[in-house]
Amino acid sequence: MARASLVAANWKMNGSRADNDRWLQEFGAAPARCATVVCPPSVYLAQVAQALADTGAQLGAQNVSERSAGAWTGEVSAEMLLDVGVGWVIVGHSERRAAFGETSEAVGAKAERALAVGLRPIVCVGETLEQREQGRTAEVIFAQLAAVLQRCPVQRLATGAIAYEPVWAIGTGRTATPEQAQQVHAAIRAQLAGHDADSAAGLRVLYGGSVKPSNARELFAQPDIDGGLIGGASLVAADFLAICAAAQR
Ligand code: PGA
Repeated sequence: MARASLVAANWKMNGSRADNDRWLQEFGAAPARCATVVCPPSVYLAQVAQALADTGAQLGAQNVSERSAGAWTGEVSAEMLLDVGVGWVIVGHSERRAAFGETSEAVGAKAERALAVGLRPIVCVGETLEQREQGRTAEVIFAQLAAVLQRCPVQRLATGAIAYEPVWAIGTGRTATPEQAQQVHAAIRAQLAGHDADSAAGLRVLYGGSVKPSNARELFAQPDIDGGLIGGASLVAADFLAICAAAQR
């Protein structure tokens, strides 16, 4: 089944109003040649929303609260994201799992909250180097996915995407080989197909971890890699655009 590619920019905790303006100007001047999502820090969502309006690119957030409105200091709800024009939200990024104690159960709850208001979740999964070396890659990823599938039917998840991001490849310059990535992507799709084959066939599985203009094409050429979640390289508009061009199918 042909799946349209998707490339998402994860700016992480980077940017300023001035830097964002420069990036957006460059990005807006050369419309991306595939579906794109730009995920700035939440304080800049409104700034980016406005600038993206005419570009065809969509707005994404990097995190969402698993709670609804109320006395939860510092949290941002799914309803609020929707209210400022967000369409997508990253959940379960490995930096949040490792540095902020997000469990797979919390990730499932966040995906559920996102879907409840109509946001499209980009659910991140991935193994550490130690887990890979112990031969536990599939087991780890299946457990991370199972916690999400317990709360979110795959038919709903298919409105969003899954991002396979091996922890050892994030921000390290060390990319999974296209074959390594393809193997995991195919396994993820097979697990999802066990729930619903049609949804699994249509669901986009993105690769993330040191994607750059020089390696994007061979990664995206793999049959089960439907685009990417781009960290470091997305901070340079020209590099992000080059990666989007590589994803064109
Ligand atoms: P990276 O990050 O491209 O800088 O490796 C990817 C991510 O963490 O989403």
